Amino acid sequence: MASKFYLTTPLYYVNDIPHIGHAYTTIAADVLARYKKLPGQDVDVYFLTGTDEHGQKIWHAAQEKKEDPQKFVDGMAEGFKKTWEKLEISYDDFIRTTEDRHVKVVQQIFKKLLDQGDIYPGEYEGWYCVPCESFWSELQLKEGEGGKKLCPDCGRPTQLIKEATYFFKLSKYQDKLLKYIEENPRFILPVSRKNEVVQFIKQGLRDLSVTRTAFPWGIAVPGDPKHVIYVWFDALINYISALGYPEDKKFKECWPADVHLMGKEIVRFHAVTWPCMLMALDLPLPKVIFGHGWWTVEGKKMSKSKGNVVDPLALSKEFGSDEFGVDAVRYFLMREVPFGVDGDFSMPAFIKRYNSDLANDLGNLLNRTLTMVEKYFSKVVPERPEDLNGAKDKLIGATEAMETLIKQQMDIFGFSRVLDIIWEQLVKPANKYIEDAAPWKLSKEEKMSELERVMYILCEVLKTIAFYVSPFMPTTAEKMWQQLGLSGKLSLKTSIAGVKTAKGQPLFPRIQK
Ligand code: MSP
Repeated sequence: MASKFYLTTPLYYVNDIPHIGHAYTTIAADVLARYKKLPGQDVDVYFLTGTDEHGQKIWHAAQEKKEDPQKFVDGMAEGFKKTWEKLEISYDDFIRTTEDRHVKVVQQIFKKLLDQGDIYPGEYEGWYCVPCESFWSELQLKEGEGGKKLCPDCGRPTQLIKEATYFFKLSKYQDKLLKYIEENPRFILPVSRKNEVVQFIKQGLRDLSVTRTAFPWGIAVPGDPKHVIYVWFDALINYISALGYPEDKKFKECWPADVHLMGKEIVRFHAVTWPCMLMALDLPLPKVIFGHGWWTVEGKKMSKSKGNVVDPLALSKEFGSDEFGVDAVRYFLMREVPFGVDGDFSMPAFIKRYNSDLANDLGNLLNRTLTMVEKYFSKVVPERPEDLNGAKDKLIGATEAMETLIKQQMDIFGFSRVLDIIWEQLVKPANKYIEDAAPWKLSKEEKMSELERVMYILCEVLKTIAFYVSPFMPTTAEKMWQQLGLSGKLSLKTSIAGVKTAKGQPLFPRIQK
């Protein structure tokens, strides 16, 4: 029986349109989902994403636009869906926190925890950061100019709030959670994030205020509707409400999640609040929580006020090649920095990667190879040379080693390293092989069997490259497959021998800027 693999992205706040930061988490999840769906893995993948639509921040955003909040979030959520569609995100479900299926489960969970005494009424007095939707104690705040109390996460001013609330007994689960983290070394990745979380918990967990009364935009507390449920308490539940908790077959099949992917700034909510909620519900914890790094733009934090927000769709259209622009964006984000580390976006860095890795290395390899197959063999790929089975060619050996190497990296979310391996062991050596083998000389000297061997090997390598880059660049992989003359689903078992190639337009025309 196939094993299941349930992976999630965070739910994106709909106060703004998606930028490359949001796209980063989503593309990474998509790469992993597509990789797990490749033939030969025998895995049932379930990939969830969606939008976080309640809370004070969204309430303000709708008010600023003078729109009814529901209408406002409907429009914004549509924008996220469209962007993900254009970026080829292959999610299985998209959940919105304003949907009935979610609201129902959140209220049910709230009531259950209230009934069992894990949630209790009280009064909250403390600090609140609206952009992060998070509560802080005086001691945790950063001191700003003129004594301003700043959020330790985002550095923006916080508000002092005092309101009637319900608390969730986070403190009750502190020791159990610490023990769990210690006993499960892969629970929070990378290790640096785990250390931060452990340090945070060791400072002492205080019970968490889980309802607000200052504004009305949220899920009503059952039986006490002047309270709305705190947006994080609401949103985290999506990971199980989308599966039809508590009774649906999907929930029973998929939970616990195999991985929750997210940016480093929200690891705390996922690695502290969420596990404590799950413990209170007596449910198993997700297997892995991975916190990736943050993207800056030319060294600066992306923000609307700075006017430096990079829209992934606009970026993909920048070079007039809509189709391949998307893959170039996906490639850049996955390749530029190791997953887990911060990255910096700049147009020169993007163009440099595009021109060197995509146009020069990959695009040229396909183009040159197919040109030669066309010229020397009337477009037909030669048969597999017999001597390949015994004295194996180095490049063929590299194609065979790929599976294990890539699996090892994928297991530790080493997306950038996977691309590095494909380039260092297949793409670049294949280009060098063309230079060294000099097929044009072989043709002139009429060394036909040697020429056949060289062209077969190049086509076999290209087939392998198409297969392994497909999770990262699905359109490119499809085009490579077609140009190689192959049909059907990408599979390493498909033979390239004797296939009639169909050279097309260069995959990545060089950017001249
Ligand atoms: N709504 C919450 C998540 C709730 S999950 C139950 C939220 N939303 S968010 O829209 O602010 O951020 C969602 C994701 O986008 C996070 O993984 C975050 O790290 C990522 N990014 C937003 N800006 C980013 C960068 N500049 N760089 C990299 N990722 C960043 O938090």
